Amino acid sequence: MDLDLKVVEAENNSGAKRDCVIEEMSARLGVRAERGRKFATLTSLRVGGAIDWVVSPESEEAAASVIHALNEAGIAWRVLGAGSNVLADDHEHRYVVVNMREVKGAAAFEGERVSVSAGFSLPRLCVEAARRGLAGIEGLGGIPGTGGGALWMNAGAYGQEIGTVVETVRVAREGKVVEVPGGEVQWNYRHTSFREGELLLGATLRLSADEPEKIKERMEEAKRKRMTTQPHGSRSAGCFFKNPPGTDLSTGKMIDELGLKGARRGGAVVSPVHANFIVTEGAGATAADALALAEEIRERIRRERGIELEYEVELWSSGRARAEDFKTPPDETCDPKIEAQEKGDAAV
Ligand code: EPU
Repeated sequence: MDLDLKVVEAENNSGAKRDCVIEEMSARLGVRAERGRKFATLTSLRVGGAIDWVVSPESEEAAASVIHALNEAGIAWRVLGAGSNVLADDHEHRYVVVNMREVKGAAAFEGERVSVSAGFSLPRLCVEAARRGLAGIEGLGGIPGTGGGALWMNAGAYGQEIGTVVETVRVAREGKVVEVPGGEVQWNYRHTSFREGELLLGATLRLSADEPEKIKERMEEAKRKRMTTQPHGSRSAGCFFKNPPGTDLSTGKMIDELGLKGARRGGAVVSPVHANFIVTEGAGATAADALALAEEIRERIRRERGIELEYEVELWSSGRARAEDFKTPPDETCDPKIEAQEKGDAAV
């Protein structure tokens, strides 16, 4: 047998063991686990390849248990919220996507505080806070993400950033829900000190009282600005690149000045409304189209402005799931009881 075939066989075997572990885990925790989903149906850019497994917990506790079980089994995973800031490549992604959209519950208001789970919609949270006369996040109302995604990247707009109002964040540690003070997290421009492998479950925000009418007015103003300066109703992931940190340069303006609005690669187009938005069009659009266009923009800005643009969207590569990310327990059985007996472990 040649080497390539051996590798394929080894991958298939480890894949079968991984499937057993995931099926057992989903049955034990009562969590939905699905095959055959695609990033094209889970992300706002509507492109991206097949996903091995999508696991959808419905509570913070279940989500913490899921990733604990995956970690214990050595199975690679990534977290997805609304998928509104992710460009996943077109190939098969051989890792588990933990879909947090169902971990939403209700926003619990108490005085100036609100506790919210990671899957809760950010626009909805902003509306509910405004209605209760709570200010601090009204500028974020047009960001089409989940609370968890907003926390992960310190989402911001119109002079506000979510990190500034976070009192505590709930994260998953060893299968448990643990509270971390907001002050212990570094909240930078579209970036935080949370690391890959950490799962954000929810947060308590501390807002400030103001007249509901005034908050609503500011919210409307932000919405008006957004509607006139950014594309809406199109398939995008918001701004594709960061503005160059430490400068007052606008990436959108720089791309616009290069005359790139409307530039197209396959089904990906530089938005004619805001040049830092790449939108996808048509059923044939691919992640490769969007990435090719993005790289072309970076090359032009590098050449003509001497600036290295940083991606603001997350690029999810199927290639990052290497063979060693799929370490599975030595036993191939699907039945945890048999497995436990064989190991002489009476605890299961
Ligand atoms: N501009 C152009 N042409 C364009 C786009 C912008 O000339 O195609 C000019 C505008 O006229 C303005 C300046 O560039 O003078 C700045 O534009 P804008 O006010 O739209 O702000 P931005 O820096 O492009 C940032 C955030 C947005 C956020 C808005 C409003 C980044 C990368 N972008 O955009 O966030 O909504 O401010 O606060 O930080 C996102 O994070 O996905 C995002 C869209």
